Amino acid sequence: MSTILKIGHRGAKGYVAENTIESIQKALDFGVDGIEIDVHLCASGELVVFHDLTLDRMTNGIGEIGKLSLSELKQLKVNGEFSIPTLEEVLNVIDKKCLLNIELKGKYTALKTCDVIQKYIKEKEWNYNNFIVSSFQHHELEAVFKIDNNIPLGVLTKANVDDALEFAETVNAIAIHPNFALLTKENVKRAQAEDYKVYTWTVNDKQTIERMKSYKVDGIISDVPDRL
Ligand code: G3P
Ligand code: CA
Repeated sequence: MSTILKIGHRGAKGYVAENTIESIQKALDFGVDGIEIDVHLCASGELVVFHDLTLDRMTNGIGEIGKLSLSELKQLKVNGEFSIPTLEEVLNVIDKKCLLNIELKGKYTALKTCDVIQKYIKEKEWNYNNFIVSSFQHHELEAVFKIDNNIPLGVLTKANVDDALEFAETVNAIAIHPNFALLTKENVKRAQAEDYKVYTWTVNDKQTIERMKSYKVDGIISDVPDRL
């Protein structure tokens, strides 16, 4: 494993429709150290892997993803050809080959995420350190922490590194996930001195990749992970 983790964003979004099994397989083919995905709870209670709150941009459906059942979502096409995967389908493809960063989107995702993680640990020989659960929604991270404080947490921010560090302490997070534009050599050092990993996103161009490497971040989340 490289020193700076190479993490595919929504699989390998730069090459294949985001958050699909095919995109995740592409990232695995690149030999990534980790894969980031987004999850929502659907109306029948499963976690599905999808970024937006609504289906409109990525599928031939419309409206909120959380209002449809899994069988209804499975009728839809992502980018005209792929299907929306469940979290469990993604876990089966990744099969511990790399770290899985699950970003909680939408509402009420914490409980089901913990259930799935615990199931794969108990039944499929995954370990807690195969996972990191991240979110901009701090109450969801608090909920995960209350349900199972062994699950590694990452605090996402596009606003402020210091606030993320302050919150990270309250849920015993292992990492902060700041947008790259917030980072300086100094705040990366400060976070690491406090024992947090720094996983930054979404870094695609060569110049910014090199800048993040010079700051010695712990991981880079990219649509084009083969460039890292
Ligand atoms: O986890 C990093 C990044 O994915 C957060 O932003 O909007 O791409 O989910 P977004
Ligand atoms: Ca995300």
